[in-house]
Amino acid sequence: MLSHVTEMIGEVERDPSISDFSSAVSALRAIGLDDFGRFFIELPNPAFPKLSSILPRMASNDVQRNWTGQCGVPLLKQSLAVTRSMSSVFAEITGSSLSGKRVLDFGCGYGRLARLMFYFTDHVEGVDPWSKSIEICQDCGLDGFKQSDYLPSDLPFPGGETFDLIYAFSVFTHLSKRATLTALKTLRNYVSNNGVLMITIRPVEYWDAAERDKSLRNTSVNDCIKKHDIEGFCFVPHDRPPVDGDVTYGDTSMTLEWLRRNNNNWEVAKIDRSIEDTYQIYVYLTPASL
Ligand SMILES: C[S@@+](CC[C@H](N)C(=O)[O-])C[C@H]1O[C@@H](n2cnc3c(N)ncnc32)[C@H](O)[C@@H]1O
Repeated sequence: MLSHVTEMIGEVERDPSISDFSSAVSALRAIGLDDFGRFFIELPNPAFPKLSSILPRMASNDVQRNWTGQCGVPLLKQSLAVTRSMSSVFAEITGSSLSGKRVLDFGCGYGRLARLMFYFTDHVEGVDPWSKSIEICQDCGLDGFKQSDYLPSDLPFPGGETFDLIYAFSVFTHLSKRATLTALKTLRNYVSNNGVLMITIRPVEYWDAAERDKSLRNTSVNDCIKKHDIEGFCFVPHDRPPVDGDVTYGDTSMTLEWLRRNNNNWEVAKIDRSIEDTYQIYVYLTPASL
């Protein structure tokens, strides 16, 4: 960390008026997004005991690798790319910043991106159907993150709450067709009418890369590419127990055309991508004016 950043964080640490989550993140926004992210992924930090007791701890390197393939600063670079995209594209689409907005991380894992989204707003919540994800979030101090369903007809927000931005990073890159359609239909009920949903999808090139990485279990790369090209959607299930008769999780690619054709509740407003994370296309969806 550069010395000016350490000094600024030290001032926040020593300021007696800063004693809760909201005042701490508000003061820490002054250091800029990359250093904010760097500080968060190194928590708890014995040099800053007060802030370490107020802010969420980072998940272990093993958890980071298991959920997201990488850990530490190389992973942070990918995470920063998507958070910067979400902040600028949200403003471009809606005409307002994320400041004070209500944000939901759908398929939040251990809360990798949620930690960074606190740079923009205090109101970040998360859901994930895997109880282990939610246990880790709660153990780290990400209170209020909740378990959802694999095929959700609703989300655990019984008060009819809606969100200004919902994002699902590296989630629809893994869902079966049924889980994809179910989630997209349900999420429409939780995005405000002038809100935004950002999902990531994989392009056809993913399948060649998966074959090079030897992660294509007993499936022919040519069959995957053909399915993607002909149907616009290809799903290779992982060896997991079925949910309501179907395996819902695996590896998935889809075309924008398939998304448009099969989800008339949503319009594709914009796409983006980072070369830090080659096979994740960010797709920004807005509620369709039906
Ligand atoms: C590759 S991890 C990505 C985690 C997180 N979004 C991130 O980018 O750090 C995929 C996540 O999707 C969650 N997931 C699996 N099936 C899901 C479903 N049907 N709906 C929503 N999330 C799901 C998993 O539990 C896991 O946490």
